[in-house]
Amino acid sequence: MSANTAEINRRRTFGIVSHPDAGKTTLTEKLLLFGGAIRTAGAVKSNKIKKGATSDFMEIERQRGISVATSVMGFEYKDYKVNILDTPGHQDFQEDTFRTLTAVDSVIIVIDAAKGVEPQTEKLMNVCRMRKTPVIVFINKLDRPSQDTFTLLDEVEEQLKIKVRPLSWPINNGPDFKGVYNLFDQSLNLFDPSITEIRPNITINDLSDSLLDDYIPHDAETLREEVELVEGVYPEFDHEAYLAGDLAPVFFGSALYNFGVHELLDTFVQIAPTPRPVEAKERVIDPEEEKFTGFVFKIHANIDPNHRSRIAFVKICSGKFERNKSYTNLRTGKAYRISSPTAFMASKKEVIDEAYPGDIIGVPDTGNYIIGDTITEGEKVHFKGLPSFSPELFRYIENADPMKTKQLSKGIDQLMDEGVAQLFTNQFNGRKIIGTVGALQFEVIQYRLEHEYGAKCRFENIPMFKACWIRCEDEAKLTEFKKRKHQKMCKDKFGRDVFMADSQFLLNMTQQEFEDVQFHFTSEFE
Ligand code: G4P
Repeated sequence: MSANTAEINRRRTFGIVSHPDAGKTTLTEKLLLFGGAIRTAGAVKSNKIKKGATSDFMEIERQRGISVATSVMGFEYKDYKVNILDTPGHQDFQEDTFRTLTAVDSVIIVIDAAKGVEPQTEKLMNVCRMRKTPVIVFINKLDRPSQDTFTLLDEVEEQLKIKVRPLSWPINNGPDFKGVYNLFDQSLNLFDPSITEIRPNITINDLSDSLLDDYIPHDAETLREEVELVEGVYPEFDHEAYLAGDLAPVFFGSALYNFGVHELLDTFVQIAPTPRPVEAKERVIDPEEEKFTGFVFKIHANIDPNHRSRIAFVKICSGKFERNKSYTNLRTGKAYRISSPTAFMASKKEVIDEAYPGDIIGVPDTGNYIIGDTITEGEKVHFKGLPSFSPELFRYIENADPMKTKQLSKGIDQLMDEGVAQLFTNQFNGRKIIGTVGALQFEVIQYRLEHEYGAKCRFENIPMFKACWIRCEDEAKLTEFKKRKHQKMCKDKFGRDVFMADSQFLLNMTQQEFEDVQFHFTSEFE
C-alpha cells in the first residue's frame, strides 16, 4: 500500500488492436461514447490512411494531425479511470503499434466475425504473447453473416495460440441475428438494429425458462444446445489465467450498432489488470513505489506546422508525476522541469498537475527525448521492452541537394528519434541505409525532410532480407566474423553491430559457417 494505491487500482490502461477494417475505430468510438468522452457518433474520425492512398500526403498529414488527438484518450467510467491507447491500423505503421503495446496493461483484440483471424491479428497477438499481455477478444459484425461460432473460437485458439473462454454467446447471425446470451450472469440482450441505446438485459433464471421461447421462438432450442456444449467444452472463466496472458475471454457483438459493447466495457473494467509491474534491466519496478519512473514510447512531431514542436508520450510506471518537478532523462543525464504536461481527457487536451501509474502524459519536447528514454527522479534504471525489429524494406538514402547536407542529417536524426524508420550505417562504405516496415514510410520521410527540414533526398533500392543484431560469447570469433563479413556489417542508431543478410538462404549458410554467432531479428534478446 502506498499513498497512490487507490489511484493506481482504479486505472485501466489498454489498447485496441485489429486487422484493418475489423472495427477498431468503431469500437473505440462506442467506448468513448460510454465514457462521455465524446457526445456523438462519428466524432472519432477513422485514423487510418485510406487504402491505395500511398501518395496522398495530405491524407498522411491529416492522419498525423488526428492521431495526436486520439493517441491517448482518458475517461472516467463508474469508479474507473480508463486510458485507451490508439494504434495505427495501417500495416506500414506496425512498428508504432508494437511500441504502443509496450505501454498498455492489457489489450482488446477485435475480430471480424465473417473473416475470422487475419494476418495482422496474428502478428499483434505474437507481440502480446511475448509480453504476456492479458487479452480480451471481441468478435464483431455479428449483424452480418458470420462464420460458425465454434469454428471461430477454434480458429482463435489455434491461430492466436491462446485458450479462449466465451463470456457471451451469439444467437444466430447476419439478418437473423437476435442478440447475445450473457453466460456470466445468464441474461439475454436482444438485438434490434433500430435501437442503439442501451436497454437492460432480460434476466432468465435458467435456459429451460419458457421466457426464452417467448423472446426467441426459432432460436431457443439451438441456444440451449449450444450453451450446454459451451459449458461442457470450456472450463469456468479463470481470472488468474487471463491475467497471466494464458486465457482470452471472448465477447460477441456489433460495434456499429453499439451492441455488446456495454457488456464488454463493464466486464473489462472489472477483470482487466491494474497497472502492472514493469521490468527494467536492473530490477522490476512496482507501480506502488514512491519514486516516479516512466518511459517514452512515442514521439509525435509537427503538432504546430509553424514550429518544430513535438510531444513525447510518457507512460508512468511508478510513483506520482508532479508538474514542475525536475525529472532526469537517464540517456542524457539531464534533468528537466516539465512545466506543461498534457493529458487527453474527454477528448480535450489539458495541462495536468499530477498523474499516476498507468497514465500517459504528453511532454512538450524540443528534441530532448527519443523513443525508449527512461525518466526518473534520479535512480539509474532502464526499461526494457522497446526493441527494434528488423525492417522489411531497405534503401540507401542519398543527399539530393549538396547545399543542404546539415539539414538532411538533422532531419534524418530527428525522424529516426521519432521512430519513423531505422537508420543503419554501413561500416565498409559509410553509406546510410534506411529500413522500414512498409513502403509508405519512404514517402513520408522524403516529404517530411523536404517540408520540415528543407532537405532533399534520393533513395536507392537494396534487395535485403533482414537486419540481424548479432551476439557471440567468444570475442575472438565475433571479431573474426565481423572481419570476414565487413562489407555487410552496419551499426544501428545506438552503435550496435548489425549484420545485413541478403536472403534467408545466405543467412542459413552464414549461420552454418559461424555456429557460435547468434542472429536476432530484434534488438532485444536477453
Ligand atoms: P478499423 O478501425 O478496424 O480499420 O475498422 P473501422 O472501425 O473503420 O470499420 C471498418 C468498416 O466496418 C467501416 O465501414 C465500419 O462502419 C464497419 N463496421 C464496424 N463495425 C461494424 C459492425 O459491427 N457491423 C457492420 N455491419 N459494420 C461494421 P466502412 O464502410 O469501411 O467505413 P464507413 O464509411 O462506414 O466509416
